[in-house]
Amino acid sequence: MFDILTVVMVAVFLLFFGYRPPWLSKKLYEFKPKDVHDIPGPLSLPLLGTSWLFLVGRYHISKIPDYYSELRSRYGPIVKEEALFNVPVISVYEKSDLEKVFRSTGRYPLRPPTEALAQYRRSRPDRYASTGLTNEQGEKWHFLRTSLTTMLTSPKTIQNFLPEMEAIADDWCHLLTKKRDKNGNISNLEELAGKLGLEATCALVLGRRMGFLIEDRVCPVAQRLADTVKVNFAACRDTYFGLPFWKWFPTRSYRHLCESEAAIYELASELIRTADDSTKESAVFQSVLNADIDEREKKSAIVDFLAAGIHTLKNSLLFLLYQVALNPECQEKIIQDDSKAYLKACSMETFRITPTAHALARIIETDLELSGYNVNAGSVVLCQTSLACLNDAYFKQAKKFRPERWLNEEKYETAANAAYLVTPFGYGRRICPGKRYIEQVLPIILDKTVEKFKIRADKVMEVEFEFLLSPKGNVSMNFTDRA
Ligand code: HEM
Repeated sequence: MFDILTVVMVAVFLLFFGYRPPWLSKKLYEFKPKDVHDIPGPLSLPLLGTSWLFLVGRYHISKIPDYYSELRSRYGPIVKEEALFNVPVISVYEKSDLEKVFRSTGRYPLRPPTEALAQYRRSRPDRYASTGLTNEQGEKWHFLRTSLTTMLTSPKTIQNFLPEMEAIADDWCHLLTKKRDKNGNISNLEELAGKLGLEATCALVLGRRMGFLIEDRVCPVAQRLADTVKVNFAACRDTYFGLPFWKWFPTRSYRHLCESEAAIYELASELIRTADDSTKESAVFQSVLNADIDEREKKSAIVDFLAAGIHTLKNSLLFLLYQVALNPECQEKIIQDDSKAYLKACSMETFRITPTAHALARIIETDLELSGYNVNAGSVVLCQTSLACLNDAYFKQAKKFRPERWLNEEKYETAANAAYLVTPFGYGRRICPGKRYIEQVLPIILDKTVEKFKIRADKVMEVEFEFLLSPKGNVSMNFTDRA
């Protein structure tokens, strides 16, 4: 009698917590629409969810894209992980699902915030009036977005930057010439690309040439800013994907996050403090200074713009140069094509194959049917765009770098396939406000570099996840003068 009672109680307990034996799910739930609980995924433990996979060393956070690729192969086009306290996080890989998620967003799209960063900013009301444009949600986000980015996203502003960008690209080529060894090799290209990221971002945000590309000029601010932004991204990654003990006590990664945030703030303040006349005339800087918002928001917006641009531009440029270095025939085509269409195609193709932002996160605002499962509003969905871009079902020979797919007759098919997949700057109202600038700056730099040098990559570039996709370790390439 006691045994029967125990079995019944255990069964009720398990059912109460959502466990369904397969035979029961099959028989009784055959006609029930499938919901989030039914989505396949790795074993989830009570409280810990699926984060144990990282704790036991089965996977490493720096290899997140490989992890998601493996989940796709193992579980199919929709996969459920569970964060701490078993909060479901759903990954989608199919175009039809990505389209539904992106198109379902309303007036104020919800992107899950970087919570550790938000916690830090809330702890510093002396510096921050909010958690910032990248982390805020709803009306507050909308207010900041409209107050701060109108000038940054205006085609006219970007058009006016053309001469400046050309000059930056010339300085970049000059720096490459000077930094080569006698065989034309540069073994620390990431450092030079970091300087370019900084110079180009400061030109946009502060309206001022800082001189970071001047040969042998010691730029402690540049180096510290570049190093600190790197630490900041890695700390964001570790606090975002690791267990959130930082909510209760300052873990190592949380301390790194706080220190790097403080350092970026101070370095950016220094750049703002030393603003010269050109900064004061800068359209973007002025639009921020004149915005009708709390004074603290202005400085933190400048800080955020600088931090958002430096590392992303550096990584994207390195990926672009690497692809072109591996494909010498592309370099010849760039030179021969007066229309400059081939240049842009190289940039698009690099963003398709190695986007620095490998996935986009959203909190869905309405119930959606994704790959046959009913997913309720409020769920966190990871749009695995970069993995979808490498799917042969959407792009022929998807892993192959082939800029031609963006040109001539083929371009219509590619553009149609690329919708909702090739989204290196995000999608919808929360799209990156730096997009237009970067889309203009990268082809210009590539153009000048290829015009001057034959580029070769003898060393394989490994990629790691630092919250953004970044080249791992030193990047080495060869730059030989064109005759
Ligand atoms: C290659 C360079 C860059 C890449 C690949 C990139 C990529 C992205 C992506 C993927 C997002 C998320 C969008 C979404 O969730 O839909 C984003 C947001 C953002 N980016 Fe960029 N970005 C770049 C450069 C820049 C630059 C130069 C700036 C500023 C000067 C900037 C400022 C921002 C800001 C403020 C946001 C948050 C927007 C919001 O939530 O409303 N980014 N970026």
